[in-house]
Amino acid sequence: MRAIGRAAQCFALFTIIATQLHLAVAHTWVERLRLISSNGTFVGDPGFPRGNVLRTSPGFSDVPMTHLLGPTIDQSTQMCSDKQQDAVQTDGSPRLKAAAGSFVALEYQENGHVTLPNNQAGKPPNRGTVYIYGTSEPQKKENFTAIFKVWNADGTGGDKRGRLLATQNFDDGQCYQVNGGNISVARKTEFPKQPDTLQGADLW
Ligand SMILES: *[C@@H]1O[C@H](CO)[C@@H](O)[C@H](O)[C@H]1NC(C)=O
Ligand SMILES: *[C@@H]1O[C@H](CO)[C@@H](O)[C@H](O)[C@H]1NC(C)=O
Ligand SMILES: *[C@@H]1O[C@H](CO)[C@@H](O)[C@H](O)[C@H]1NC(C)=O
Repeated sequence: MRAIGRAAQCFALFTIIATQLHLAVAHTWVERLRLISSNGTFVGDPGFPRGNVLRTSPGFSDVPMTHLLGPTIDQSTQMCSDKQQDAVQTDGSPRLKAAAGSFVALEYQENGHVTLPNNQAGKPPNRGTVYIYGTSEPQKKENFTAIFKVWNADGTGGDKRGRLLATQNFDDGQCYQVNGGNISVARKTEFPKQPDTLQGADLW
């Protein structure tokens, strides 16, 4: 699964996954960021979010990387989880280095939201929309309601500290986690991949 945004220098990225029904009813997170070359291939070293806990860490669980919003969203709702308020990288998970204007892919797992759509009723065909916001002036305690659908592509929204860099379909049309559902089975045939240590047999 790849949502693609365009980077400006030193941007902090905030990623929000929304469906038509509820904000962040899905639970997944950006696992890795990649620089995309002009021919569409991934180049350079990968980057990672603040406070990243690698899936390959001993004793890994989803909890440290999950920041579920709702059902009530109000002015105190935080854009970042408690563990990601500070721009601090963990050992082995450096920040992505990208020149201004680069295209960047944000990789995440579909967690069944694409391949097992009937697990929760009412999923839209694109499985929800990923909103990617960036700022060169990140602050602690960024308030969700001051950014989501307030910052805009021109940088003239709200307090004007950031921009909407991209909106993307949650489903990139190729991703799958391996399961017995017909979508996963069909995609595994259409987009085969060699298992690797980070993604396993799944295709992010
Ligand atoms: C794509 O571009 C990258 C970076 O410039 C280069 O290393 C790679 O060989 C290119 N791949 C192809 C298939 O042209
Ligand atoms: C978030 O909202 C609180 C309460 O209104 C405010 O004190 C704080 O400055 C806001 N945070 C940012 C980064 O603007
Ligand atoms: C999966 O099954 C559903 C329900 O029968 C069907 O609507 C859909 O087209 C199938 N998708 C694929 C990729 O086979």
